[in-house]
Amino acid sequence: MSPISALTARRGPAAAGLWRRSLRVGPCVLVGALALGTVGCSVKGADNANVIVGKQQFVSKCGSCHTLARAGTKGVIGPNLDAAFAASLAEGLKRSSVRNVVEWQVKIPNPEGAMPKDLVAGATLRDVATYVSKVVGRSGQDKGLLASAVPAPGAGQPAVEKAGKLQIAASPSGQLAYVTSKASAAAGPVTVEMPNISGVSHNIAVEPGNGGATPSGAVLGASGFVAKGTVSVTVTLKPGSYTYFCQVPGHRQAGMYGTLTVK
Ligand code: HEC
Repeated sequence: MSPISALTARRGPAAAGLWRRSLRVGPCVLVGALALGTVGCSVKGADNANVIVGKQQFVSKCGSCHTLARAGTKGVIGPNLDAAFAASLAEGLKRSSVRNVVEWQVKIPNPEGAMPKDLVAGATLRDVATYVSKVVGRSGQDKGLLASAVPAPGAGQPAVEKAGKLQIAASPSGQLAYVTSKASAAAGPVTVEMPNISGVSHNIAVEPGNGGATPSGAVLGASGFVAKGTVSVTVTLKPGSYTYFCQVPGHRQAGMYGTLTVK
């Protein structure tokens, strides 16, 4: 049984009703699904769903646990949503039904699972579910206003050490990334400070080498973990290349790292 059919089977009669209700699709959803990226219907879809807000909220509330290629998220705690819906979509599952499945999953996640209940609700839930239903399982990139709805992970201005302090914030939008993937510092003791307002738990650790997602040496120092707040770690560095990264399982692999050049 595919995860999605398991999902609907588990829900029994409610899910059966879902499939019927989902047959009522507004013309905007259809147009939006076909021409994703054109302003108008694709932004304000059926029921006034705003897929820009949907994408932003998905990245911030769901992306740390779920991979969804179009949203650029790489979380691994929950199922990869592109993969989860692929078989059902291939078997003819309507995208409007995907929207309903997502809404129900958020309202009634598996009580034994790791997904918290009611992460988003009301109109925002509709926005998130509509966005997911439009992009899940699709290759390529979001276009138009959706393309710029969330910043590219790590694309911020490089961080530069000042008076022994280096500030590298975690992505405020909940992406598994720091705001910048580049930093520089003078040799000697450096306090690396990580502000995090995202609500997703992160830390910052430093190791020698330029391994990117792959460990390249013993960890020189690591801050504590924080979901909202600021943590820091002080390391003494010689000239060379270092990697800073998050030690929450899966985050480094998802791209939460950067290069620190010490001169
Ligand atoms: C803390 C991690 C976490 C967060 C945050 C999270 N999920 Fe999940 N999600 C899971 C796990 C684990 C499962 C599988 C078990 C279950 O059904 O609860 C899951 C299952 C799902 C499924 C069903 C996939 C399938 O294969 O059946 C969907 C759809 C889904 N999540 C959507 C969302 C959306 C939308 C959000 C944001 C509003 C979200 N999730 C946030 C962990 C998470």
